[in-house]
Amino acid sequence: MPVTVAVPKELTPSERRVALVPDIAARLAKLGATVVIEKEMGKSAYFADAAYQNVQVVESTDKLYQPAEVVLKVQPPTEAEIEQMKEGTVVIGFMSPHLYPERVAKLRDNKITSLAMELVPRISRAQSMDALSSQAAVAGYKAVIMAADLASVFFPMLTTAAGTIRPAKVLVIGAGVAGLQAIATARRLGAMVEGYDVRAATKEQVESLGAKFVDMEIKAEGEGGYARELTAEEKQQQQAILAKHLAAANVVITTAAIPGRPSPKIITKQMVEGMAPGSVVIDLASEGGGNCELTQAGETIEHNGVIIHGPLNVPSQTPIHASEMYSKNVFNLLSPMIKEGELQIDWEDEVIAGCTLTHAGEIKHAPTRELVEGASS
Ligand code: NAI
Repeated sequence: MPVTVAVPKELTPSERRVALVPDIAARLAKLGATVVIEKEMGKSAYFADAAYQNVQVVESTDKLYQPAEVVLKVQPPTEAEIEQMKEGTVVIGFMSPHLYPERVAKLRDNKITSLAMELVPRISRAQSMDALSSQAAVAGYKAVIMAADLASVFFPMLTTAAGTIRPAKVLVIGAGVAGLQAIATARRLGAMVEGYDVRAATKEQVESLGAKFVDMEIKAEGEGGYARELTAEEKQQQQAILAKHLAAANVVITTAAIPGRPSPKIITKQMVEGMAPGSVVIDLASEGGGNCELTQAGETIEHNGVIIHGPLNVPSQTPIHASEMYSKNVFNLLSPMIKEGELQIDWEDEVIAGCTLTHAGEIKHAPTRELVEGASS
């Protein structure tokens, strides 16, 4: 039996990305899959039903979930969506298990297999499936565009009859995937850019993009290439040096994160008060609590003339390219599981084992199991 891959409309009102774009639908059909989409599934990202070739378009979700062996999503499935899936369905998407433990419990109880895109291991072979990275790159780019829009200065140097305008000074804090993309984008717009991270390995990456690295002797590489939390002393040292760079910056973009922890608070109220009026902070970490003490998630505030913007779900604001990248990540995870049109999952595979959240009535991801079932399980 050919595998049936179904894609419902996203239910989260602020979500404009879609899990399947027309090109990828065509590639799934070529692999022998039957593809079923809910009417207007792609509309929020400007993909019309007619653009999807060789797919069935259905009006109601029961016609979608009933034949589905695989369901593709961007946002975690809601409890009502999970209820509609039949036992054994494989659902692929972001699952945010720490935000929705009750949904994970339902996935377990209803014997749904869930593959969480955020748990795809960050090994070389899985780079093409790494949705955290693809979406972080979108966010880094968009953060600079937002900053340019809110800034009261130009980004590039301009030589005009009315005099020469100096380029904007941009400071990017956190040089992971989003930060590096922000640095590259700000450079393309002609700004003078500084980058900062607690991982020493990022110095070379920041410099290779034509930005200056803010060096401060703190080396905080943690496990798996990620940062560890700073000690109180290191934090103080960091804040003292960063305050000077903040005071000179027109735009600050913060992207610092530590896996499994709230975003580190790097910019204090006092540091904001040392910034020039008219400058802008874009806090890309606002979803995890923010890197700036004053950030209000989803809001734009002004403090002493400094604009602090804490955007939520930034990738959704560039829905066409973000969907194309996400859909490709999902395809690269799913396609090796389709053999001669049929679904055959190799549970021993490192990537699949790594991203399996629930399967056959069990929560497979240990930290989530602990969260949902308690430490003793
Ligand atoms: P992230 O989103 O977890 O964090 C962003 C950045 O914030 C990181 O560079 C981190 O070092 C920095 N940071 C944390 N605390 C900070 C502080 N107090 N002050 C300043 N900066 C701070 O990181 P992301 O972008 O997801 O990637 C980080 C790591 O993952 C890197 O080692 C990267 O090479 C690796 N990676 C591996 C991939 C693969 O092999 N497939 C793909 C993407 C990333």
